[in-house]
Amino acid sequence: MEKQKLIQIFDRQANHYDKKREGSKVKQWRQQLIGDAKGEVLELAVGAGANFPFYPPGVKVTAADFSAAMLEKAERAAREHRLDARFIWADIEEMDFAAHSFDTVVSTLSMCSYDQPRMVLDMIARWCRPDGLILLMEHGISSNRALSAVQRALNPLLYRTFGCHHTRDIQGLVRQAGLDLVRTDSYWLDMVQLIWARPRALRGTGG
Ligand SMILES: C[S@@+](CC[C@H](N)C(=O)[O-])C[C@H]1O[C@@H](n2cnc3c(N)ncnc32)[C@H](O)[C@@H]1O
Repeated sequence: MEKQKLIQIFDRQANHYDKKREGSKVKQWRQQLIGDAKGEVLELAVGAGANFPFYPPGVKVTAADFSAAMLEKAERAAREHRLDARFIWADIEEMDFAAHSFDTVVSTLSMCSYDQPRMVLDMIARWCRPDGLILLMEHGISSNRALSAVQRALNPLLYRTFGCHHTRDIQGLVRQAGLDLVRTDSYWLDMVQLIWARPRALRGTGG
């Protein structure tokens, strides 16, 4: 799908995301994950700022999204939660930062919409400090055969409507990218993955 069309789809969903109609389970997952953020944080595809209530005190957040409507909501949420945050209106797939710029990189519910999720994960690994933490809460293909068949069948419609793929193998992508898994929690027949990871340590060549 063209980027402009995708942006429009998310602009239209901004009010919905702002109303925070998520179930308590999703809020609990956010709390569990985001509570581990520290220092200089990069939050990719921030949406309406649903993670903001869960950041520990003292973090400095750089938040990016390509939907201006989402960013407007997120800026308000940051003020509401007294979060030290700055915002970047940009396509994540076109962004760049110096290597090792952030202590924590956060991405929640966004690997589903990138054209090149593997490339974004590689960039995340580069932007994160070697001793930093990467925090992901993503949804993808279930390990249950019947459910995954339904996901595959509905995916074209869901992508056209919500801009979001439902068939991605999130753990597989993370493993292929330069990330080492620290902890993974899977829910809803593996459709939802909470992932704590670190940039893969460069291994010596001296044997
Ligand atoms: C499903 S929402 C999730 C928002 C938020 N991360 C959350 O957990 O509630 C996906 C967000 O990703 C943003 N997004 C998708 N692809 C993007 C891209 N290539 N560059 C920047 N933002 C993107 C959308 O604008 C939207 O705000």
